[in-house]
Amino acid sequence: MASSTFTVTRLDSNQVTLQLNDLSEYPSDVLEPSVVTMTTRYAEYAQRIRDFQVYEDDVWIVTFPKSGTTWTEEMVWLINHDLDYQRARGVKLNVRSTFLEIHAIADRFAIDTIAIAENAPRPRQIKSHLPVSLLPRQLWTVKPKIVYVARNPKDVAISLYYHSRVFMGYDGTKESFLDSLCTDLFAYCPLVRHVLNFWALRHEPNVLFLTYERMKRNLKAVLPEVCGYFNKTFTKAELDNLAEHLSFSEMKKNPATNKHDVVRDALKADHREGEQFEFLRKGIVGDFKTELPEGYDAKLNQFITEQLEGSDFQYEYE
Ligand code: A3P
Repeated sequence: MASSTFTVTRLDSNQVTLQLNDLSEYPSDVLEPSVVTMTTRYAEYAQRIRDFQVYEDDVWIVTFPKSGTTWTEEMVWLINHDLDYQRARGVKLNVRSTFLEIHAIADRFAIDTIAIAENAPRPRQIKSHLPVSLLPRQLWTVKPKIVYVARNPKDVAISLYYHSRVFMGYDGTKESFLDSLCTDLFAYCPLVRHVLNFWALRHEPNVLFLTYERMKRNLKAVLPEVCGYFNKTFTKAELDNLAEHLSFSEMKKNPATNKHDVVRDALKADHREGEQFEFLRKGIVGDFKTELPEGYDAKLNQFITEQLEGSDFQYEYE
């Protein structure tokens, strides 16, 4: 199925690929749009999201799933709201930071999150996992602040595997899940290209490129950079408090950020109320070392090396 904006190709009953045809307003001097896998449902919403109105004072958090989105959303929201802990603790993160396309991805999310984002009071904070070619075209003309976070694909793959079991009812093997990522047959793939496109855009004045591993190694060193990007200045004591608030243990305890309600609703919808799952699962770098099935470290190495060919971007695994 082709429109002037996208060519949509059906892969199976659940998934399609979308190829962007209309390159007006696309940063085509640095990028070629990739063919993206999405859920079938997304095809109905692709045009609406591409035409979504962007405002200069928006803040966008963009990532491939499981790359540290929630962590970054909380960090950015607090920095951009002058460390308003009262509101941060009183209003759930997913209310303060709208997940733009979730309604377009899964039937389960009945609330029209695109409309919620459209009508959110400004300045809006919007979260999206969409790759450059599916994001609203106005991002590249209106140029709001975009914070992009990358995480190494091996830890992403493990985190996404556990996430998919809870949120997408995945009940296949870990091996077949990893195979689907390595063949780009999973929503938002290609995974490495998602990152490389934003890596190519990292010098744009409205793009801040971070990595999960850098944040994990030394969040206190990353915070001043993020504050500078938002033209905010805080004292060392304020930044120390912020780092503490953003620590894995604090965010896991905090009902505004730990997503216990979202997990509970997903398990309930699947009649699996008794199961335990924490959205803030392990929060470490290198989880893949104990989690990848035999042979899959080599398989992923080969996949990642092929995908990174020609780029100077390097993932961190420790
Ligand atoms: P794991 O599943 O490896 O534990 P996203 O928000 O993009 O869905 O990413 C979720 C991943 O980020 C999970 O990884 C989660 O534990 C981790 N995470 C969330 N908050 C964190 C924090 N404050 N510090 C470190 N990792 C965090």
